[in-house]
Amino acid sequence: MAVLGIESSAHTFGVGIVEEGRVVANAKAMYKIGSKGMIPREVAETHIANAPNVIQEALKEAGMKFSDIDGIGYTKGPGIGYCLHVGMLSAKTLAKKLNVPITQVNHGIGHMEIAKSRAKLKDPLALYVSGGNSQILKKYGESYRVLGETFDIGIGNMLDSLARSLKLYPAWGSTVEKTAEGGKYVEMPYTVKGMDFSFTGMLTHASKMKDRKSDKDICFSVQETAYAMLTEATERALLLTNSKELCVCGGVAQSHRLKRMLQGMADEHGITFGYAEDTFNADNGAMIALMAEQMLKHGIKTKLQDCTIEQRYRIDEVKLWKE
Ligand code: FE2
Repeated sequence: MAVLGIESSAHTFGVGIVEEGRVVANAKAMYKIGSKGMIPREVAETHIANAPNVIQEALKEAGMKFSDIDGIGYTKGPGIGYCLHVGMLSAKTLAKKLNVPITQVNHGIGHMEIAKSRAKLKDPLALYVSGGNSQILKKYGESYRVLGETFDIGIGNMLDSLARSLKLYPAWGSTVEKTAEGGKYVEMPYTVKGMDFSFTGMLTHASKMKDRKSDKDICFSVQETAYAMLTEATERALLLTNSKELCVCGGVAQSHRLKRMLQGMADEHGITFGYAEDTFNADNGAMIALMAEQMLKHGIKTKLQDCTIEQRYRIDEVKLWKE
């Protein structure tokens, strides 16, 4: 079975193809984020312009024709409405044209499942960290449970906002990580409640420091504090659930510093820690294709006329199958 998956929830229009659990294509095109952040209508227009080429690129990479595709998956949510619509319409058009089944994938589950697959883990607890989301997840039976999450913004959005406030471009996490090299620690608000956490207080505090402290020290301190918060909450969740495996997934899982901190904590408890390659942690179509293939194999499909998008599609609303 070969399944084509489309991801379009934010700045990336991604098309992946998976054949029997193996990624055979992962093409993508990204909207360039400027000083104003993401302007939804502009991002969606960029996706519309890029869609035909990215689909063709994925087929070429896989060495396949449209007629080789047996099913379609797309991101139903969560994400930006305008952007999700482009992915849904592209997916519906393909499914109708090719006369193949279509299924709707939760973006966060896509991130978690591709990390699990690439790291060859069986039943991990997942720390899912991206722009809009920061959650601690675990699958129980046929559903995923959110054991902890941010009270306000996702860590990725916090890092992007910090970069913009310090006028560091491109305004995203890797720029903050680079700027942080060799920085000195200054105290930041540390907000962990059980397995939940909050980032806006730290963002406000750090932004107010910009005339008194160097960008290097601010980035270093925010990064160390935020990642320590995530590591503490994850450690608590691992011990409470008696989990033996941990993965980190989502765009912020590309951070070397976060992975080092989690690795250190996992080693202390004898827990196996794994993650996907960077290209599969950034938003991508392969994770949607991977999940869609599993869903279609379990008979989970949607009628074309029932396909929708849901901007706040929560991971714990999704019911799949028992392992
Ligand atoms: Fe994502």
